[in-house]
Amino acid sequence: MYQLFKPLLFLISPENAHGFTMRVLVFIRRVPGVSFILRKLFLLADTRLEKNILGLKFKNPVGLAAGFDKDAKYIDALSDLGFGFIEIGTVTPLAQQGNEQPRLFRLPESEALINRMGFNNGGVGEMVERLKKIKNRQVIIGGNIGKNKITPNETAYQDYEKCFTALFPYVDYFVVNVSSPNTPDLRALQDKVPLSFLLGRIQTLNALMSASSKQPKSENRLSKSLKPVFLKIAPDLNTEQLDDILEIVAVNNLAGIVATNTTISREGLKENAEDIKNIGSGGVSGKTLSEHSTDIIRYLRQNTRQKDLVIIGVGGISSGDDAVEKMKAGADLIQIYTGLVYEGPGLVKAINQKLISDF
Ligand code: FNR
Repeated sequence: MYQLFKPLLFLISPENAHGFTMRVLVFIRRVPGVSFILRKLFLLADTRLEKNILGLKFKNPVGLAAGFDKDAKYIDALSDLGFGFIEIGTVTPLAQQGNEQPRLFRLPESEALINRMGFNNGGVGEMVERLKKIKNRQVIIGGNIGKNKITPNETAYQDYEKCFTALFPYVDYFVVNVSSPNTPDLRALQDKVPLSFLLGRIQTLNALMSASSKQPKSENRLSKSLKPVFLKIAPDLNTEQLDDILEIVAVNNLAGIVATNTTISREGLKENAEDIKNIGSGGVSGKTLSEHSTDIIRYLRQNTRQKDLVIIGVGGISSGDDAVEKMKAGADLIQIYTGLVYEGPGLVKAINQKLISDF
């Protein structure tokens, strides 16, 4: 069905196509019975897919990656499409416009996208108001947090702390995003000293807020009583940097790593080199990223000293086989974004079916 609509959607700009599709979804869901039908079509409920991780019960391990629902506008609609979890954001303390349009480009031959959105979002205050209104939430929500463009790296921790504090009561886990290539210098926060400082601050705040909130205590008080915090990393890191990150993640008792964000590399793209150059800066997502992000997941799994490190594998998953590969490499959960653009929402169910049969 999606393959029928795709040529029409691809006639409009990728950013408009995204907005249009989501508005149509929200609109048709107002018709009584449509939500039920969508769930019948897209949701695969099977106990073999369920996973208990970090005290959270995932109905299935397929999540929506950050950036798709930056402002938490579509949680109910997206939960009808069969996702086991949805990561909202990246959100920043203040609303910001992001980069000038056009800032999202399709590379159809490569089944890839290039984006330089630049954390366009309505700010954490607006997001919280939206989250407050959600009743009977059906799906696990992760809050992906970042810093405003105008905030220098020296005080970036304050932006992360503001977002963490505001979202704490409303999300099930957090992702600290220091890996977007589209906010100047953001990736420098992945370096040893600033990263240790940032994660240390967040986990101190986490301990304080967790202690005063009503979360169930368990035997493993230290890790389980904290709200799970993940670090999202770039695929453009070398093994020495990955080793440092594993160490910092362990020392700061993070729940896990989201691997990976988009890449600044243009390797493997099939489009004309001149056309790619003309697009300009941005991060590549989609098929060409798949193998590299899987290699990173494998490296993290093989080299972590944290027995219970949770890895969320993301990057170029466009089929059930891709998802199985990520799981075999060491991912506990997976996420998709670009695959949805090229394959449509049926991809979630297709992946879950494959995971039941092959994993
Ligand atoms: C993203 N991604 C992203 N990641 C993030 O942590 N915060 C964000 O705000 C965004 N924004 C964003 C916008 C667009 C248009 C795209 C395509 C991607 C990265 C995304 O979550 C994911 O890590 C990568 O896209 C790789 O996965 P896929 O797309 O290859 O499945």
